[in-house]
Amino acid sequence: EKGGYKHFMAKEIAEQPVVLADALRHYLPETGLNLPDDLDFSNIDRIVLIACGTAHYACAVAKYWFEEFARIPVEIDVASEFRYREPPLSKRSLAVFVSQSGETADTLAALRYCSERVAKTVAVVNVPTSSIARETDIMLPIFAGVEVGVASTKAFTAQLLVLAVMALKAGRDRGETDAATLAAHAETLRALPGLLNQALAISEPISHLAEQLAEAQDILFLGRGAMYPLALEGALKLKEISYIHAEGYASGELKHGPIALIDRTVPVIVMAPHDKLFDKTVSNMQEVMARHGMVLLISDSKGISAAQDGTWGTLHLPDIAEPFAPILYAVPAQLLAYHTAVAKGTDVDQPRNLAKSVTVE
Ligand code: F6R
Repeated sequence: EKGGYKHFMAKEIAEQPVVLADALRHYLPETGLNLPDDLDFSNIDRIVLIACGTAHYACAVAKYWFEEFARIPVEIDVASEFRYREPPLSKRSLAVFVSQSGETADTLAALRYCSERVAKTVAVVNVPTSSIARETDIMLPIFAGVEVGVASTKAFTAQLLVLAVMALKAGRDRGETDAATLAAHAETLRALPGLLNQALAISEPISHLAEQLAEAQDILFLGRGAMYPLALEGALKLKEISYIHAEGYASGELKHGPIALIDRTVPVIVMAPHDKLFDKTVSNMQEVMARHGMVLLISDSKGISAAQDGTWGTLHLPDIAEPFAPILYAVPAQLLAYHTAVAKGTDVDQPRNLAKSVTVE
């Protein structure tokens, strides 16, 4: 069942190129964007993205895309906060619920709160027969196939892909992204299966770093812009399966508190493609190195050659156009958690205290 892999998680990480190819065939065929016509962004004035855990981080990435491509205000929240604060909504809001299982109790309750209060509800789910899928107006399957590992991996990248295609449609519907830019973004998304395949090659260098990471008490993940939610996801994944305390921070927040934690025993994982914010991130890295923190830089060729001096390690990913880097950088985030957990000898597929589907509140 594990197809030659030691764990379902390893198999599911490796499946991502195929999963994304399947989702792309459906949502982004050669003929263009394929989303239901009633998923119309032209007459709404706000998007609300609701989920829990890893699915929430997918929403947090998507917020950057919707804002950039469609210039529409986006609110994100975890379902357990959203539902109890009973936020004001309007018939000009579109509410999107992202859930692998489609059964998460808080997400379902948030959906029920929204149902009569917004223009339309949309589900981005892996299980098309699930409660969340059935109770929304529009259901968009992510085509990830069964995910067995408790730590979500391929569902995350598939959620990101579907949200990216939605954001492109929002940009088109609202006339905020021109045809040439849309076509360029579509090409980048279509290149993802190949890029993810290349990215999987860093499994090997990561496995060599894992023994040392497994010794750490605390690990920090840093990212800027749409890479910030990836830092949160990297930290969550690591906590879940290796039981090492990890935190994700927006790089710019470092000096507002977490820098106090840095000493020579603290690995700081910096997820930073060579984008327009790269120089800012380099100065954050230098602040860490000046305090003898162990910087692990995950970047592309340009980023690594510009900033590898003084780092503890580097991991090299292929180049990808700026907005979609988070989809590619999910791979090292997942593999860092995986190999660290393997080095520690924890139960990777069934981590303690966690359930695959959280149907209690
Ligand atoms: C993290 C993880 C959880 C889930 C969360 C939401 O690896 O698996 O954080 O993402 O419980 O679950 P779904 O997506 O089924 O609603």
